[in-house]
Amino acid sequence: MNCRPALNNQGREGKVSTYKFPPDFVWGAATASYQIEGAWNEDGKGESIWDRFSHTPGKTANGDTGDVACDHYHRYRDDVALMRQLGLKAYRFSVSWPRVLTNGRGPVNLHGLDFYDRLVDTLLEANIVPFLTLYHWDLPQVLQDEGGWTNRDICPTFADYAALMVKRLGDRVKHWATFNEPKVVMDNGHLNGDHAPGLQDPATAYQVGHHLMVAHGMAVQAIRAIDPNLYIGIVLNHWPSYSASDSPEDVAAAERFWLQSETLFLDTIFKAHYPPSRWELMGEDIPSICNGDLVLISQRLDFLGLNYYSRHLVSAQGIIDHVPGSEYTEMGWEVHPPALRNLLNKMNDGYDLPPIYITENGAAFRDEVTSDGAIHDERRLEYIRQHLIQVYLAMEDGVDIRGYFAWSLLDNFEWGHGYTKRFGIVHVDYETQERTIKDSGQWYSRVIESNTVSDS
Ligand code: FCB
Repeated sequence: MNCRPALNNQGREGKVSTYKFPPDFVWGAATASYQIEGAWNEDGKGESIWDRFSHTPGKTANGDTGDVACDHYHRYRDDVALMRQLGLKAYRFSVSWPRVLTNGRGPVNLHGLDFYDRLVDTLLEANIVPFLTLYHWDLPQVLQDEGGWTNRDICPTFADYAALMVKRLGDRVKHWATFNEPKVVMDNGHLNGDHAPGLQDPATAYQVGHHLMVAHGMAVQAIRAIDPNLYIGIVLNHWPSYSASDSPEDVAAAERFWLQSETLFLDTIFKAHYPPSRWELMGEDIPSICNGDLVLISQRLDFLGLNYYSRHLVSAQGIIDHVPGSEYTEMGWEVHPPALRNLLNKMNDGYDLPPIYITENGAAFRDEVTSDGAIHDERRLEYIRQHLIQVYLAMEDGVDIRGYFAWSLLDNFEWGHGYTKRFGIVHVDYETQERTIKDSGQWYSRVIESNTVSDS
């Protein structure tokens, strides 16, 4: 049953449609530790797998690293002031595990922990609700040296780290996500190898996928044992698949693609089973699974974070790389806002889901700073506008969506692409570290203030 307040969509018949969001809708922006913090080896921080990876020649565009990034570690107060200026109601950030536990476990690095403590206090003083992600890909290198996510021993270690963070911040941070995009950790980190730790082995990748889920389950238990009133979730990324035509072959191919590549985490977490199509795909490379794992993995969650950027168009011959007539972002991702609404409905129909937050959505475009210092990023503004309208329509369809986080607050280190892709609603001059709110950010700020999106 949908108990959300009735939506108020005015003027849909007229020229300009306005979409009025519920009064308690959470408007936010998101970042991740390695992408913005910098200070990679300061105040006792240990090396992460992304430090190691980016310091390895040939792994990132231009050899870019997160050594300095947006220097957020030193500038967090100014950044929170910027968030306040934008009127953000919430901020999604992640904790760098090796910053708080230099060796991944054992003695706490109090300097690191204090940083997040101060960040949270500064956010709360600015009336901004913190949404904390425990793992956004920067594993302590010392744990990687023990096998990282391939080694099951890491699961209780992750739960201990989660418990440490909750004990320190749980009095003030109420929303906790265990993992960001486990699929990317599995596929990019261990199958394609274009992300840290750069492994390329299917059996390893599938085992990692399983361990991430076990670690998630153990962390949920550990967090609940400390405080059953916290809101615990996980952040999944999905690209829905669309069929290239009405032919039965294409339709079947699109559905098979969805089942094989997109349902692993949804099915294990929300249905306590491995999707059979996934089993088929893994063949001889199936992971080893212990008794009780699926029960552990499928514990009740308080929210689901969804990251959405684009869709796949699939024919019986495979994925169609370029759809004639479609707009593409700098990432080479097709802009397709209606797929977000479809995805939300598909997920809502297929699973018994907790409330959803859109935890990431945004676009990389080439920005130009004009002579007056402004950034007229009309295409990013339109991207966000069109996706927000689809979020609204999905809510009208009955999907329980509680908030939206733009990716990203700041231009930042975009993993293997280094600093070549800008996703921010705030521009960062990497030479001077000067921040400038882009037009998209100014517009988003007005959306937040009015709780309303109009379609032009
Ligand atoms: C997501 C990541 C995020 C950012 C965006 C563009 O997959 O979670 O860190 O890189 O893509």
